[in-house]
Parts: sequence; C-alpha cells; structure tokens
Amino acid sequence: MTDLYCVFGNPIAHSKSPFIHAAFARETGESVIYEARLAPVDGFAEAVRAFVAAGGRGANVTVPFKEEAFRMCAALTPRAKRAGAVNTLSFVDGQCCGDNTDGAGLVADIVDNLGFSPAGRRILLLGAGGAARGVVEPLLATRPATLVIANRSSDKAQLLADIFADLGPVRASTFADLAGNTFDLVINATSASLSGAALPLPAGLFAPASLAYDMMYGKGETPFLAQARMQGAGRCADGLGMLVGQAAEAFFVWRGVRPATAPVLAELRAALGG
Ligand code: ATR
Repeated sequence: MTDLYCVFGNPIAHSKSPFIHAAFARETGESVIYEARLAPVDGFAEAVRAFVAAGGRGANVTVPFKEEAFRMCAALTPRAKRAGAVNTLSFVDGQCCGDNTDGAGLVADIVDNLGFSPAGRRILLLGAGGAARGVVEPLLATRPATLVIANRSSDKAQLLADIFADLGPVRASTFADLAGNTFDLVINATSASLSGAALPLPAGLFAPASLAYDMMYGKGETPFLAQARMQGAGRCADGLGMLVGQAAEAFFVWRGVRPATAPVLAELRAALGG
C-alpha cells in the first residue's frame, strides 16, 4: 500500500519538496508518493479537505498558508503552537494535526551538516516575521549564551522576545543598537533580499570565526551572504540545507524513520550549480 503526501503552496510549481521526499522514500524503502499541489489563495482549507478525502496521509504547507494551516488544526504540537505556524500536517482519523519542523531543520543543518555548535555562543537573528518566529524555540534549545532578535520594526522584535522569554536568554534590538556587539552565528530570517534591499548592519558584527546563515537560497550567493562576507563573516551558508532538514523532520513525523540528508542536499546543490 502506497501512502499519499503532498505540499500545498501558491505558487508551488518550482517546489523541491517532491524531489526531496522521493529521494527519502528511495533511501528508506518507505512506500510513499509525494506531490506538489497548488491551492487557490482563498481555497486552502477546501484543498486540504479534498486531499484528505482522496486518502492523503499528510502534507507540507508553504507560502502563503502556514498561518492558515495553524488556525485550522484540531491539534498542535508544542513547537507548532510556539511558532504560530504549521508546515507539517498529519491526518489522523479525519483530524488535522499540525507540527512545525522548520526550526528543527535549521538547527540540524547548522549542527550536523555545518558542524557548528551553538551552545554557549552568541546568536543574532535578523527579522521578526513568520520565518524568524518558527526558529526561535529550537535555537534557544541549543543553549546559546544569548539570542538577540533584531528587526526593522522594533515592536515586532520585542513581541517575539517576550513570547520566548521563558525559554532562554533572548532579547530584542534595533539594527542600530547592534553597534558594538559581535556574534558567532548570524541568521537572516528577513525577506529583505526579495526586494534587493541590503540590511543596515553595523560594522564589526561578525566575529572572525562566525557563521553567517541565510534562510533563503538560490543560484549563486544570496545578497545577505555577500554582505556578510564583505563585513567579515568567517563562513557563509544558505538555506538549502534547512529546506532538506525540515523535510527530513517531516518525513520522520509521518513515517517514524529519519532519512540521511547529505546525499539529497548534494544533489540539490549540484542542480543549483553551486
Ligand atoms: P516571513 O514569513 O518570510 O518571515 P514576514 O512575516 O512578512 O515574512 O516577515 C518579513 C520579515 O522581513 C520582517 O521581519 C520584516 O521586517 P518588518 O517587521 O520591519 O517589516 C523583514 N524585512 C522585509 N524587508 C526588509 C527590509 N528591506 N529591511 C529590513 N527588514 C526587512
């Protein structure tokens, strides 16, 4: 019996998730079919219902439906509750259960693939939107010395810091107030590069052996990583490994089997030409 999964998004045509999950299924021997499904912007819930009726066992959710998926779930994991967004749905007895594997995917990439241990280190998270919120809890779970959330609108950074204050040493900042601080790990969770805007990062932010991590990825160097390299970051990594990591964690949620991520990441990297 082959089990059916999909990813919902809009747009969705260029999603790499079907490729990734097909590779995981081959690697683990799990009998899984995984499709990309375009949901109308105003028709996400209907698309999910139709998928469940057709026998779908689970689904990933991407832009712009993660918050709507959060609202429609009958049950949520603690990490999805904190994230305020759902990227992984499981359909159990017709009920919709929501999880969020984005943060776990990010941390797995940083720790396992990049060999960077965040424990006791100074972390800077840039941005305070949905993407940032999804990764704060798993980052704090790595026990950093400090996690600073910097955002253009400082009230949003403060809100995030307040939400997660009980989980570890997290505080909010403006970009300007970062001056004079250095960090070991700087993660870009803003969407600034979509509009080609550079972030107003003060000089001296990157410690010599620091890792700059962009949750975005694409062909060639992302604008944030180019900026980070110019400003002295020791190492740079884009978000392709996070994409594969969140998929592996979703696969584990559904199938109870954890696939290796390195082979499919290498294939995707080769396809991107980098
Ligand atoms: P996502 O789901 O990708 O996180 P979002 O919730 O709209 O999208 O959040 C976008 C983030 O990128 C926000 O932190 C936003 O800053 P504001 O809260 O001040 O809007 C940030 N961002 C987008 N464009 C930016 C720019 N040009 N400079 C700095 N920050 C930017």
